[in-house]
Amino acid sequence: MEPQNIININGIDYSFTPGETILEVATRNDIYIPTLCYLKGMSPTGVCRICLVEVEGVKTLLASCSTQATPGMVVKTDTPAVINARRMNIELLLASGDHNCLARSLDAGLWTDFQLDALDIEEHRDLCPAYGDCRLQDLAILYRVKPDHVVPVNPKYDVEDVNPFIVRDFSRCILCGRCVQVCNEIQVNKVISFGYRGATSKIITRGDRALKDSDCVFCGECLQVCPVGALMPKQDMALRTPVNEMKKVRTTCSYCGVGCQIYLHVKDNRIERVTGVEGTSPNLGSLCVKGRFGYDFVAHPERLTTPLIKKDGEFHEATWDEALDLVAKRMNDIKRDFGPDSIGLFTSARITNEENYLAQKFIRAVIGTNNIDHCARL
Ligand code: FES
Repeated sequence: MEPQNIININGIDYSFTPGETILEVATRNDIYIPTLCYLKGMSPTGVCRICLVEVEGVKTLLASCSTQATPGMVVKTDTPAVINARRMNIELLLASGDHNCLARSLDAGLWTDFQLDALDIEEHRDLCPAYGDCRLQDLAILYRVKPDHVVPVNPKYDVEDVNPFIVRDFSRCILCGRCVQVCNEIQVNKVISFGYRGATSKIITRGDRALKDSDCVFCGECLQVCPVGALMPKQDMALRTPVNEMKKVRTTCSYCGVGCQIYLHVKDNRIERVTGVEGTSPNLGSLCVKGRFGYDFVAHPERLTTPLIKKDGEFHEATWDEALDLVAKRMNDIKRDFGPDSIGLFTSARITNEENYLAQKFIRAVIGTNNIDHCARL
């Protein structure tokens, strides 16, 4: 450790590697600094000003996510000036759009009543759909933002609900830029960017078209990082389940062999939403359109749940024993009459390595042929 690479945070010295930001040094040492626009691994934009800290000798508060640690720097993360500035910035963000989780249609004067009223979801059916799953709301609670400090503004842009999977509600967008960063820097789809200027700023596609008319591939990465309710999965709002009523079940996506780690958000044994598990290989939270949105089939009323055997041109429901016995008999008949090389087996990238191994074992050892191939070579 080089002695000059020392930074003092809240009275304690910490070493840092040149290039590290104040936020990175603090986080590494379990010092909490709230963030909103910051995305780990991305170049910091420093737009939300929630991560402000006081640095000795500097007149203004600095965004810790975009300020590099320098030798001898003395930082304070929780002074009254810092707390007040963070609270004011949260109020400004809440006042910039339609954030009714805490600020709209709730006028109880005391913080506790106000908070309790907001928690009564039954009484507020028009609440923001991100209620309970919103970083801005969490911060508003943490910093005790008063609703009377937040003056509502009229939405400047209509809700875009013509897309197959994603609803864009610009009235709830705080222009933090996280969606733009992941679309451009992680997924490299380069579909969205900041458009217009000043009070009319908006996240736009090329030509400000709906996502469905753009190059968007609906990976949903933007939706996963949106810290508010500006981007929501398309669902019947009346049937939407509050986040605190869903159970998170970790599993592996079954669409292909990559093995992406996902959370199923489940209510009454029904999948309501899928998100990627962040910070875990192989997908680090990212998903494709199928993994993120292709789960309706699980509870679809037309889903086949029993084998079907065709008799006299018509399908009839059968048990698994009946179906497997029939397949085994027919394969044995074909092998006896035409030889094992008259049978071939195609396996799939959608099954596991172990299942693919068993498939080749079966065709070689049981059927007696090397006629095996894989859908990836078709
Ligand atoms: Fe640092 Fe937004 S988190 S400015």
